[in-house]
Amino acid sequence: CASSAECVDRGGVVMNNVSAVGSDWERAMMESALTARDRVGVQDFVLLENHTSEVAFIENLRKRFKENLIYTYIGSVLVSVNPYKDLEIYTKQHMERYRGVNFYEVSPHIYAVSDNAYRSMRSEKRDQCILISGESGAGKTEASKKVLQYYAVTCPASEHVQTVKDRLLQSNPVLEAFGNAKTLRNDNSSRFGKYMDVQFDFKGAPVGGHILNYLLEKSRVVHQSHGERNFHIFYQLIEGAEDELLRRLGLERMAQQYQYLVKGSCPKVSSINDRSDWKVVRKALSVIGFSDDEVEELLSIIASVLHLGNVQYSGEDSGSSYITTDTQIKYIARLLGVDFSVLKEALTHKKITAKGEELMSPLNQEQASSARDALSKAIYGRTFTWLVNKINTSLAFKDKFNSKNASVIGLLDIYGFEVFQNNSFEQFCINYCNEKLQQLFIELTLKSEQEEYEAEGITWEPVQYFNNKIICDLVEEKFKGIISILDEECLRPGDASDITFLVKLEDTVGGHAHFVTHKLADGKTRKVMGREEFRLLHYAGEVNYNVNGFLDKNNDLLFRNLKEVMCSSENRILTQCFSREELTDKKLPETTATQFKNSLAKLMEILMSKDPSYVRCIKPNDAKQAGRFEEVLVRHQVKYLGLMENLRVRRAGFAYRRRYEVFLQRYKSLCPDTWPSWDGRLVDGVSTLVKHLGYKPEEYKLGRTKIFIRFPKTLFATEEYRKLRLSAVQVQAWWKGILARRRAQRRRQAVDTIRRFIKGFMFRHHPRCPENEYFLDYVRYTFLMKLHRALPKTVLDKSWPTPPPALTEASELLRKLCMQNLVWKYCKTISPEWKHQLEQKVVASEVFKDKKDNYPQSVPKLFVGTRLDGDDINPKVLQALGTEKMKYAVPVTKYDRKGFKARARQLLLTASSAIIVEEAKLKQRIDYSALKGVSVSSLSDGLFVLHVTCEDNKQKGDAVLQSDHVIETLTKVAICADKINNININQSSIKFTLGQGKEGIIDFTSGSELLVAKAKNGHLSVVRRHSTPFS
Ligand SMILES: Nc1ncnc2c1ncn2[C@@H]1O[C@H](COP(=O)(O)OP(=O)(O)OP(=O)(O)O)[C@@H](O)[C@H]1O
Ligand SMILES: [Mg+2]
Repeated sequence: CASSAECVDRGGVVMNNVSAVGSDWERAMMESALTARDRVGVQDFVLLENHTSEVAFIENLRKRFKENLIYTYIGSVLVSVNPYKDLEIYTKQHMERYRGVNFYEVSPHIYAVSDNAYRSMRSEKRDQCILISGESGAGKTEASKKVLQYYAVTCPASEHVQTVKDRLLQSNPVLEAFGNAKTLRNDNSSRFGKYMDVQFDFKGAPVGGHILNYLLEKSRVVHQSHGERNFHIFYQLIEGAEDELLRRLGLERMAQQYQYLVKGSCPKVSSINDRSDWKVVRKALSVIGFSDDEVEELLSIIASVLHLGNVQYSGEDSGSSYITTDTQIKYIARLLGVDFSVLKEALTHKKITAKGEELMSPLNQEQASSARDALSKAIYGRTFTWLVNKINTSLAFKDKFNSKNASVIGLLDIYGFEVFQNNSFEQFCINYCNEKLQQLFIELTLKSEQEEYEAEGITWEPVQYFNNKIICDLVEEKFKGIISILDEECLRPGDASDITFLVKLEDTVGGHAHFVTHKLADGKTRKVMGREEFRLLHYAGEVNYNVNGFLDKNNDLLFRNLKEVMCSSENRILTQCFSREELTDKKLPETTATQFKNSLAKLMEILMSKDPSYVRCIKPNDAKQAGRFEEVLVRHQVKYLGLMENLRVRRAGFAYRRRYEVFLQRYKSLCPDTWPSWDGRLVDGVSTLVKHLGYKPEEYKLGRTKIFIRFPKTLFATEEYRKLRLSAVQVQAWWKGILARRRAQRRRQAVDTIRRFIKGFMFRHHPRCPENEYFLDYVRYTFLMKLHRALPKTVLDKSWPTPPPALTEASELLRKLCMQNLVWKYCKTISPEWKHQLEQKVVASEVFKDKKDNYPQSVPKLFVGTRLDGDDINPKVLQALGTEKMKYAVPVTKYDRKGFKARARQLLLTASSAIIVEEAKLKQRIDYSALKGVSVSSLSDGLFVLHVTCEDNKQKGDAVLQSDHVIETLTKVAICADKINNININQSSIKFTLGQGKEGIIDFTSGSELLVAKAKNGHLSVVRRHSTPFS
């Protein structure tokens, strides 16, 4: 199969050993399709000459970044460097360019990853996920949006699907408004983790979605570090809402007015346009399906949080506090639909149960403020979760029946590794999450891959990498892990505090290699650590966490009376967020860290069940500036993203593996030996197949249960070839279908014709009617066609096909016409001599035909001009004739009138008379005017009598003559004398005049011999054999 070999040759790469990967030849092959611009550096790190050099790796990134080539592959992993500027690479044309095209054929792009995941999902019916990782500001959220846009534009759509697409896209601005904020690292930093499933139906159209959200950074609602902001929605509302709405919410258009918005001292940011963003969000809410009432209630909640922030306390000597800003409470009470005084009391008191009695214990100013902040965080946090659920309802795939068959592509955009000056509980959770993701990456790519080679018996040099499981265990291990210890401190009775937690940590995990505290550290480390800090040696670097607030944040406590107030709210969103069961539930709620740990464990399960694609985002500088590539920063990210290990495994490893049965099943049709089935061992079947496909030995390896294919393009080429084959089969089937349909149609026509024919035959004697008209027409047609083929060719050919009854008359007319035509044609070509001949023959025919026996024998004999020419006739006779022209002369026998003696004579015919000559004498001249007629017998004798008029005395009576050419002679006489009608043919006797009134009789009889003699009765008796055709 030449074409398959060709296919694979095009796609495949010849490689003698691993080190050959970077050969110039191969690079030329891979990049031949690219433009000069694309060829900056290498577009796949696998092609890097020095693949173990971090310097070379970063240099390649830098070179490409300078040329605005922000994407580079490590095999199928996409490395993306944030350009911090709009590149014209996300247009519809770009999407089209990547649609359905294999990875290696086009330059690296997020669309290629999207398309590849989509095609794998479609062709292999396996759920996919795209894991986007990187630190804050590296471009994860932007990348996830690009993926979503790609599917929205390129996937098939119908009206319903369009709505889903719109909702999927519009969920982003809403979630970003409520979950993103400006931080020092990113002006649009996602402050929650997001995993989104996009569901596709069997046609590949996006039909639904589902979002899982992780740990919103609630503390931001009440506090922001310098240079950071609260969640966008607060600023958008204040800047963008119409005056009337602000009035209803009791808000002023001035962010500085609100305590919760000014902690970071930057309510306004030049890169953010809150007003236009508001419009986008407002529209998106409608698209997702929020009613105006729901929007109003949602914004009421946001506004009440702002009002809560402005609630001020003053302290009394006793330690209890009171609220100095009643207006705020009024607004909150109205907006949330709660009782003013109950709320007010709840914000300054705490309900305690002592000896079975409930008592309101006053809070001091600090406690009251933190209760207020806890309420704000709880309200905002739960509203955010409600929002995600609401979006999920709107995105839900409605078709329950088919939802099981939906395929899924998951998109993970979760916070990246974070290190601040002061790191708190949130950073601890976020970095723990990144440890888990790194574990997953190790599991799926580094560890499992290497283990698999081993298990499959593939020769393999292990690649060293740091397995961060040890750190994950440090954080999450039951009873011994940091989270367990934290929970224990949170839940234990007595005066647990952040500091006791730190001490407990030192006691429990103090000896762990990745854990240090100020107390445990050596002198050098101690200098850079606070006493309230513990340090974790993350896979990505060291981070000091300040334990302050750990317990509170982990407990996430909200005083019971505040919960009660919220449960009494008339705001329908809040009633869903705060349920009454919570008040009666005696079970201790899960701590924040445990919740997070559990949700991460679930996320890992979800991701493990899917085929992953990786997008590794890198941030080139901390200043959010375009064109700036800070090497130190990038190197750090390259290190903690594990890109170098990734590359090493990749270089040495195999891009794809397939179980033998799966591989054989899918491609067996490409090789005659494996098609339609392979009876031998699977490994032999696969081996036969790949050899037939022209795989080079370096391109694949056969393991115990799987085939390993080194380069994606080898498999892609095979896949292309398979597609081609399938198309060919389809075309073949299509053409066979056409032929079969044509045959069937012809058969139907034939049946119909036969049926009509039979019917017509049965009705053939009826007058023309619908039943027989086809038959009759057919019969006519066939007769005419037959006639056309069998028309007589000559005038003598009298054959003519027998016509059907309906055509008798027409046939006759045609026959005549045809004969006329033949005759006319014949006549046109005839010579004058022949014409003369025929004229004489016609006369002979008129006279003798069917009358005289020897006529038929005369027909084929041509008449001659004369039987005697000048030499045969005596010159004296010729002289006597003078100018009289002789027309015909023939020797005859004359029988005397008396005695009937036979005498040899000559009969000459001129223009005016017939002359009987004896030698030199003109014995008798019979003028034609005196010639009464000529008599002849009907037999085959040559006797004839020229009857002459008796009144003519010169005449000697009738002349009894005999000619051997009697037909010819008499025809000449008839023509010359113009006596055609005077030739009498007699049956048995002829009477003739002997002269002077006497009469003689010639009797004709049949006999065996010719005999002319005088009979006894005085008659001339002529005995003549009857002529037979052979005589
Ligand atoms: N492909 C891109 N093209 C142009 N600009 C980009 C691109 N990717 C990111 N940016 C810029 O970088 C900013 C930060 O990106 P993004 O919000 O995606 O980061 P992130 O990784 O999600 O960070 P965080 O973890 O804080 O959420 C964007 O607001 C945008 O200005
Ligand atoms: Mg983000």
